[in-house]
Amino acid sequence: MPRASIAGLGKYLPKRIVTNHDLEKWMDTNDAWIRERTGIETRHWAEPGKETAASMGAEAARQALKQAGLQTSDVDFIVFATLSPEYTFPGSGCLLGDMLGLNGVGALDIRTQCTGFVYGLSVADQFIRSGMYKTVLVVGGEVQSTALNLTTEGRDVAVIFGDGAGAAVLTATDDENKGILTSNLHADGKYARELFCEAPGSFGEKRVTHEMIDNGSIYPYMNGRYVFKHAVTRFPESILETLRATGYSKDDIDLIIPHQANKRITEAVQQRLDVAPEKVFSNIHKYGNTTAASIPIAMTEAMEEGRIRPGDLVCTVAFGSGFTWGANLIRF
Ligand code: UT7
Repeated sequence: MPRASIAGLGKYLPKRIVTNHDLEKWMDTNDAWIRERTGIETRHWAEPGKETAASMGAEAARQALKQAGLQTSDVDFIVFATLSPEYTFPGSGCLLGDMLGLNGVGALDIRTQCTGFVYGLSVADQFIRSGMYKTVLVVGGEVQSTALNLTTEGRDVAVIFGDGAGAAVLTATDDENKGILTSNLHADGKYARELFCEAPGSFGEKRVTHEMIDNGSIYPYMNGRYVFKHAVTRFPESILETLRATGYSKDDIDLIIPHQANKRITEAVQQRLDVAPEKVFSNIHKYGNTTAASIPIAMTEAMEEGRIRPGDLVCTVAFGSGFTWGANLIRF
């Protein structure tokens, strides 16, 4: 049975860099608090209308295809993970397909928030394992900056999130020891309202009302401490589940690429698993939390920095709104 291997990676970060000191101008926060509680120093913000989830995703995808030595026309299917699509509908995958000239090629948007790329890799893997497609583009792209409450009221969320996109080209391989070896995907909607954005949505009589704008329902809400507690349990759990499924031990893993939620979460995961700090990738200081884009951006950088080499065993793992969580174990 074929399985999916990663043939190319790419990333795109918006030009505008926003520092913690910039945020101090709009809300009661400070550089020391943000660094200490999250590890974030800067984040990138998209230029509205120009740098969108799909357009940034398209740039990342072009880079990934180039690295893979493939043409755009080789792509059989698009999987697009985002919680910040351009429109309520259609999805960003359709827009990205048009931008790449992939008109007529199937495009599936994935809405599992911070876990979107982990789900996306698994979906692409299943299509490739079944023989339906040979080359699948998996993209994570996010514009968070336009959804943030940039007043003191929204500071717990506003300082964390950033914009960007990352992409992976997955191709079929018959090599049993290469590619996505296993994935686990989880969700528990019991916790939906601990980290969510209510409006615009179809829950009530109207998608968005003046009242919703006035009472802040249009901004993301996060029960930070609660999310934190669940995250530090679910990350290691999902990693260990990949090991049980494949028979590998934690020492076999060359690099863990966690969703970049908070530097303290990443450190807690490293300590709970008792692995060396250099085995856990972190770039949150530069980009903040870019939700579905954070893993492909991190994976691309890890590759650029020579921290992923051919033959390496890499574990991607995420937790986020839903709650959703999961992991992939990949042999490069
Ligand atoms: O992507 C996956 C989903 N997201 C996550 O995994 C994020 C999980 N949660 C977190 O990362 C952390 O909970 C936060 C970074 C959001 C908050 O850190 P915390 O250490 O849990 O702080 P806290 O919410 O308990 O707040 C501590 C204090 C509060 O003040 P008081 O009540 O002690 O006086 C907050 O009002 O810090 C205050 N605070 C801030 N102060 C300065 C909250 N946000 C800020 C801010 N600047 N931006």
